[in-house]
Amino acid sequence: MNAMAQARCADVAWVGIDEGGAEGLPYAAGSFDAVVSTQVYEYVVDVAAALVEVRRVLRPGGRVVILDTDWESVVWHAGDRELHRRVMAAWEEHLVDPRLPRTLPGLLERAGFRVTDRRLVPMFNPEYAEETYSAGTIDTIGAFVTGRQGLGEDDVARWAADLRSRGTDYLFSLNRYAFVAVATGDPP
Ligand SMILES: C[S@@+](CC[C@H](N)C(=O)[O-])C[C@H]1O[C@@H](n2cnc3c(N)ncnc32)[C@H](O)[C@@H]1O
Repeated sequence: MNAMAQARCADVAWVGIDEGGAEGLPYAAGSFDAVVSTQVYEYVVDVAAALVEVRRVLRPGGRVVILDTDWESVVWHAGDRELHRRVMAAWEEHLVDPRLPRTLPGLLERAGFRVTDRRLVPMFNPEYAEETYSAGTIDTIGAFVTGRQGLGEDDVARWAADLRSRGTDYLFSLNRYAFVAVATGDPP
């Protein structure tokens, strides 16, 4: 991801790409006016500590925008619903918290923020098309879940082929949630 960002921003003088973990940001206190994160905190073990880190590097009054997915919100029209349930259960293992948006506002408040906006960001693919999010993620999910929850290569191939052959019966939706919060007073 960092290499891709570096390449994309090679000609943008004010962009810098640094490496570091969310639970220990490599920046001095009060360094930033704004912090943005998409699809990262659901992978982080100690989100409470990571949000305290965001508060530390923000100036008072600074803002943070965080977007994460709730994977229990996924609707995907599969022919074999029991097989699909096992695939989705195995897929949830790729995240520390596949339902993080439910607790993010409270975590933000306890880390020294006031939540000022909450938005639903739906992913909606009402038909199968190669360039859509859900079509692109079938192989990613398939590779991850093979060997988990008792799923063999044949099971995963059957699951993927079924989704790809749905035609006009294809339907996928998934909810992402964005939270905007302002750093209040002194860090906790
Ligand atoms: C699904 S990608 C999202 C990348 C990018 N933000 C985007 O939306 O396209 C998840 C990213 O979280 C990073 N990540 C996971 N755990 C992390 C942690 N503890 N600290 C920092 N980054 C982490 C991974 O390295 C990966 O780049």
